[in-house]
Amino acid sequence: MQRSRIVGTGTYLPERIVTNDDLVKEFGIETSDSWIRERTGIGARRIAAAGEATSDMATVASRRALKMAGIRPEDLDMIVCGTITPDMPFPAAAVFVQANLGATHAAAFDVSAACAGSIYALAVADSFIKSGAKRTILVIGAEMLTRIVDWKDRNTCVLFGDAAGAMVLVPELRDGHGLLSTHLHTDGTQADILKIPGGGSRKPFSKEVMEKREQFVKMNGREVYKTAVRALEQCSREALERNGYRPDDVQHVIAHQANLRILEAVMKRLEIPLEKCHLNIEEVGNTSSASVPLTLDQANRNGALKDGDLILMMAIGGGMAWGSALVRW
Ligand code: ACO
Repeated sequence: MQRSRIVGTGTYLPERIVTNDDLVKEFGIETSDSWIRERTGIGARRIAAAGEATSDMATVASRRALKMAGIRPEDLDMIVCGTITPDMPFPAAAVFVQANLGATHAAAFDVSAACAGSIYALAVADSFIKSGAKRTILVIGAEMLTRIVDWKDRNTCVLFGDAAGAMVLVPELRDGHGLLSTHLHTDGTQADILKIPGGGSRKPFSKEVMEKREQFVKMNGREVYKTAVRALEQCSREALERNGYRPDDVQHVIAHQANLRILEAVMKRLEIPLEKCHLNIEEVGNTSSASVPLTLDQANRNGALKDGDLILMMAIGGGMAWGSALVRW
């Protein structure tokens, strides 16, 4: 079956940097740099400018990825964007990206899998290339979670940052290289531990929703932590075993950076040294579905990824939804 290959990566980070100290001084949040760092590894995050929307960020990241790939927007067959913070409930963020880029031949849609959005989008794109139905696909993870967190809830508002990342996929022509497999999982019985309860069809916007602040992210941090560690280990092992590899065959881990402690625990369980896991959570925080493509782009642009390296990707988000991918670069 035809494998796919990632031939371009790109990132966009909003200009404004907000440190943990800024959260205390400028935002008036009862927290501290040491509390946030010790529990999450986060030192700062980016916050999008007023008027900036998710598709604006995604468009810049996509242009950078297309430029690296040497592919024109009009040659794209499809755009898949992992996001839970589209510009508006509909149409999808991907359609605005399609228009901005002038990708006139591309079918464009969003995938909703919270922080696992880009792995889900990658798996969808890979399947279209494998089946031969599409050849050139733009995969995006773009998220503006700072717009949907409750700035009065210090349990969640300190965690997230805004960003977009993009990857361009084409058919792989080299033997043994490319996207080896993807693995997606969901446990809908855990929908309650991370969600926005209000503003949808079950509880449309109302005075009551607003009073209870149900239009914002609600999280049971401890349950998310437990599920994340278990699920990320499981899907990583699955990807390796499916392809006949062991954890020590991996050169790079590109993981959704929800929390440094989660990643430390997962790497320890897998017995992969933390040094192999590319980290940016200290600088950008939890960027949700942007995290995997953003981290991949940083590793790619700093020359860390060598021809033939084995890359393990993993992500988990609300749902709970999680997944992994194994790539021979
Ligand atoms: N600053 C200071 N104190 C705080 C803050 C804050 N920002 N937030 C909470 N606290 C307080 C709490 O109110 C609590 O005080 P109390 O004991 O008086 O009630 C105290 O700190 C301890 O709270 P805990 O819940 O015990 O803190 P814990 O050590 O569990 O850490 C955390 C909380 C960081 C959220 C942890 O549960 C965690 O890492 N969970 C994973 C969740 C996560 O990473 N989510 C990311 C989004 S999901 C995703 O991307 C997959």
